Amino acid sequence: MVWFLFSAGLVVTYAAAVHFWRKWVRPWRDVDHVIHEVINGRTPRTFLVDGNRSAQRIAVALEDVFVRQRHLATRVEEDQLNIRTILGAMRDGLAVVDGKGRLRLMNAVSRHLFGITDDGLGRNVIETFRDPLVAEMVTRTLQTGASTSHSINVRGGGSGGDRRLAVTSLAIQQEDGGTHGAIVLFQDVTQLQQLEQVRKDFVSNVSHELRTPLSIFRGYLETLIDEPDLARAERERILRVLEKHSTRLHSLVDDLLSLARLEAPDPGLNFVSILLDGLLQNIVKDWEKKVSAKELRLVHISDADLPPVSADEARLEEIIYNLLDNAVKYSSAGGQVTLRASRVDEHNVAISVTDEGTGIAAADLPRIFERFYRADKARSREMGGTGLGLSIVKHIVQLHGGSVEAESQLGRGTAVHVILPKDR
Ligand SMILES: Nc1ncnc2c1ncn2[C@@H]1O[C@H](COP(=O)(O)OP(=O)(O)OP(=O)(O)O)[C@@H](O)[C@H]1O
Ligand SMILES: [Mg+2]
Repeated sequence: MVWFLFSAGLVVTYAAAVHFWRKWVRPWRDVDHVIHEVINGRTPRTFLVDGNRSAQRIAVALEDVFVRQRHLATRVEEDQLNIRTILGAMRDGLAVVDGKGRLRLMNAVSRHLFGITDDGLGRNVIETFRDPLVAEMVTRTLQTGASTSHSINVRGGGSGGDRRLAVTSLAIQQEDGGTHGAIVLFQDVTQLQQLEQVRKDFVSNVSHELRTPLSIFRGYLETLIDEPDLARAERERILRVLEKHSTRLHSLVDDLLSLARLEAPDPGLNFVSILLDGLLQNIVKDWEKKVSAKELRLVHISDADLPPVSADEARLEEIIYNLLDNAVKYSSAGGQVTLRASRVDEHNVAISVTDEGTGIAAADLPRIFERFYRADKARSREMGGTGLGLSIVKHIVQLHGGSVEAESQLGRGTAVHVILPKDR
C-alpha cells in the first residue's frame, strides 16, 4: 500500500513537472529564441510556439513585426538604390549638407570636380570643398533659408585642369518652414564659357574684318567725290585699291556663308563615288595659270592603286582649292607645289599639298585651323587672306569622317595632309 502511494505520488509529481515545463518553460524559451534570432537579423526557423497562449500571442506579434521590418528594409534598400542611381546618372555635382553644415551625401561628379578621394561624409563644407565662397553660401542658406548662386574656379580637380563651376545652394525646408539642411549643386560651365568666348571672338573678328575694307571704301569714295579733278593716275590707283578690297570683302562673305552652311544641322552634302586621279588632274588644269603667274611649278602625283572615295565633289574641290591657294600664296617664285593622292591603308586615302614656301612657326602650327587665325598677320592680310580657309577645310574633312594635319618648318615649306575614309 505504501509502495502504491509512493509510486502514485511520483507519477503525479512527474506529470505536474512535465505540464509545468510545457506550459511555462518551453514556450518562453522558444519566444526567447525567436527574439534572439530577430535581433541578430536572422529569420527564425518558426514563429510557432506551443503550450502558452500569452507566449503564442507574443510570437505572432513578433512575426508581424519581423515581416514589417523586412518589408521596410527592402523599401529602404530600394530607395537607396534609386538615390544612388539618380546621383550617379547626374551630370552635375550634388552634395547634401545637414543643419550643422556637415556633409551627409555627395555624388561621384562632386568628388571628381574637387578631386576628393574618400566619401567625405561627416566633414564640414570648408574642409570638403576648400572654397570659402561655397562655405559662405551654405552658411547663408542654413541661416536664412535663401537660395544663392555664384561662380567659382576650381584648380586641378579630378580632371587636372582649371574648371569654372556655377554653384547653387538651396535650403531643405522643414514642414514648419525652418531649414534643416542644404543641397549644393555644382555645374561645370568651363566648356560653355569657352564656347561663349569663341562666339564673342568670332563676332568681333567678323566686325573687324568688315570694318577695315568698309572704312577704306568710305575714305576713298569721299576723296573721289570731293576732288573731281584728281589726276588720272591717282584716280586709277584708288580704283585699284577699291577693287582689291571689294574682292576681299566678297571672299570674306563667301567664306562666312560657307562656314554657316557647314555648321547647319543638315549641311546638305551629296556623297558620290569619286576617282581622285581624274579630279586632281582637272584641278591642276584650273590652277596652271595662277601657278605659272607666280613662277611656281605644280606637280601632281597619284598612287596607281587608288580606290574610289565616297565624298561630296564640290566640297572636296573646296578643300583642295583652299590648300593650293595657301601653298601658292605663301610661296615665292621658283618653288614647287606638290599635289598628291595616296593610299594610307585599307580604309583611308590621303590628299596632300606640299610647298617650299615661307613655312609656319612651331608656335603657330597648332592654331592655324582656328577661325581667323593667321600665323603672319601682316603678310596674310597683304595676301588678301582672312584666316578662314583652313577652318573651312577642317570642317569639311570632319563632315566626311576624316582628319587633317599640317607639318611645317619656318623658311622651308609646309605640307598639309587630309586623310579621308574611302567609304562613308
Ligand atoms: N602653306 C602655307 N604656308 C605658310 N603659311 C600657311 C600655309 N597655309 C596656311 N598658313 C598660315 O595659316 C594661316 C591660316 O590659313 P587660312 O587658309 O585659314 O587663312 P588665310 O589663307 O590667311 O585666309 P583665307 O584662306 O581665309 O583666304 C594663314 O594666315 C597662314 O599664316
Ligand atoms: Mg587660306
